[in-house]
Amino acid sequence: MSNKVAKLTLEGSTESIDLPVFSGTLGPDVVDVGGLTAKGLFTYDPGFMSTASCKSAITYIDGDKGVLLHRGYPIEQLAEGSNFLETCFLLLNGELPDAEENLEFAKSIRYHTMVHEQLYEFFKGFPRDAHPMAIMVGVVGALSAFYHDSLDINDEKHRELAALRLIAKMPTIAAMVYKHSIGQPFLYPRNDFSYAENFLHMMFNTPCDEAKVSPILAKAMDTIFLLHADHEQNASTSTVRLAGSTGANPFACISSGIAALWGPAHGGANEAVLNMLYEIEDESRIEEFINRAKDKNDPFRLMGFGHRVYKNFDPRAKVMREICDEVLQDLGVENDPLFRIARRLEKIALEDEYFIERKLYPNVDFYSGIILQAIGIPASMFTVIFAIGRTPGWISHWNEMISNPYKIGRPRQLYTGHVKRDYPKK
Ligand code: CMC
Repeated sequence: MSNKVAKLTLEGSTESIDLPVFSGTLGPDVVDVGGLTAKGLFTYDPGFMSTASCKSAITYIDGDKGVLLHRGYPIEQLAEGSNFLETCFLLLNGELPDAEENLEFAKSIRYHTMVHEQLYEFFKGFPRDAHPMAIMVGVVGALSAFYHDSLDINDEKHRELAALRLIAKMPTIAAMVYKHSIGQPFLYPRNDFSYAENFLHMMFNTPCDEAKVSPILAKAMDTIFLLHADHEQNASTSTVRLAGSTGANPFACISSGIAALWGPAHGGANEAVLNMLYEIEDESRIEEFINRAKDKNDPFRLMGFGHRVYKNFDPRAKVMREICDEVLQDLGVENDPLFRIARRLEKIALEDEYFIERKLYPNVDFYSGIILQAIGIPASMFTVIFAIGRTPGWISHWNEMISNPYKIGRPRQLYTGHVKRDYPKK
């Protein structure tokens, strides 16, 4: 795999340690530090800034150039020509489906859209004002209590069935969470609708009033799911891999991914963007918030700006910005005060030296929050929408790991506590 070697010499030692260097098909070479343990050394890399935790053939990101490829295909091309379900197939299987596979996959997803009837009972136990992500973590994890025929992680068929079930049921559970919060009856899925259409139907229709879902909004929703479908070894995907490396079942693993996604530095940012825009309240206060974001003594950050990997622009944000314009125009709300604040904020931040120097650009969550708000989805549901979109990515990574030789994920540490001391005699 490699004939390059990195040499590590510790100060004061005459011996150097040879570390193999591996090259992927794209991206930086990686130094294999696995052999260091035998030499009594660990590497130290808080936040995994320089650590490749695994090999993967699913997604490639070049953060400096703003490139995102799924199985080799650029995200912009997928957003234009593909749809969410086809992209799910691509992520899971490595290749685009042919016409027959496409139909078959969509049919299999439709077959699994309903949830076990007993699951409805769960919702009675959750307070109406519970955060939707709190319910998602619980209910998705609880799927493992119902679907015993897809829990054997060593059986390829079980893994495939779990993947279909998770992708199919996430919108149903998400819509149930929303209906529960507003006290309306749950709606059963409509299998004659597309994936995104069905989700909007379950969210906004009622048994007494069934309106047609706007094709523009359904397309926007589908693209939002697609743009979130995978993002290589981000915090939630790495959480899914770590949980999966213990042999835990897929529903439990995806539930752990949902928990990791919830934080405002990750998927929770889209909700935080909206809360920030409400807090700003008026265009005249934008400067005050920009100054707070720059103040090192203030923990406030401009939500929806910056990314660990993208240091040029977020290619998903570029597509999302275009959809944002379309949706706001379609709904006739482009002059809504909240959206005007968002536009001004974006302009000022893009021209400000502090943000330019640190390469802080609006990320995918800046625009997705604005679109979802315009569609009428409450901010507390935004991260749930992200979770629906990211589900195929989580499962693809989990499946890739389980299908290949793997070890339990077990990082080490730089211990800084007390050295050994004796418990005081009494
Ligand atoms: N507002 C103001 N300053 C910022 C921001 C921000 N949003 N983001 C980073 N900085 C500054 C930070 O203070 C630091 O400045 P200095 O070098 O002077 O100390 C510098 O930029 C580098 O920041 P960092 O925290 O070292 O960068 P990171 O790569 O560890 O963090 C991030 C990336 C996304 C967590 C961070 O940019 C952030 O908190 N952004 C806001 C939250 C957000 O929008 N998250 C969604 C990410 S996209 C969706 C996803 O993939 O999950």
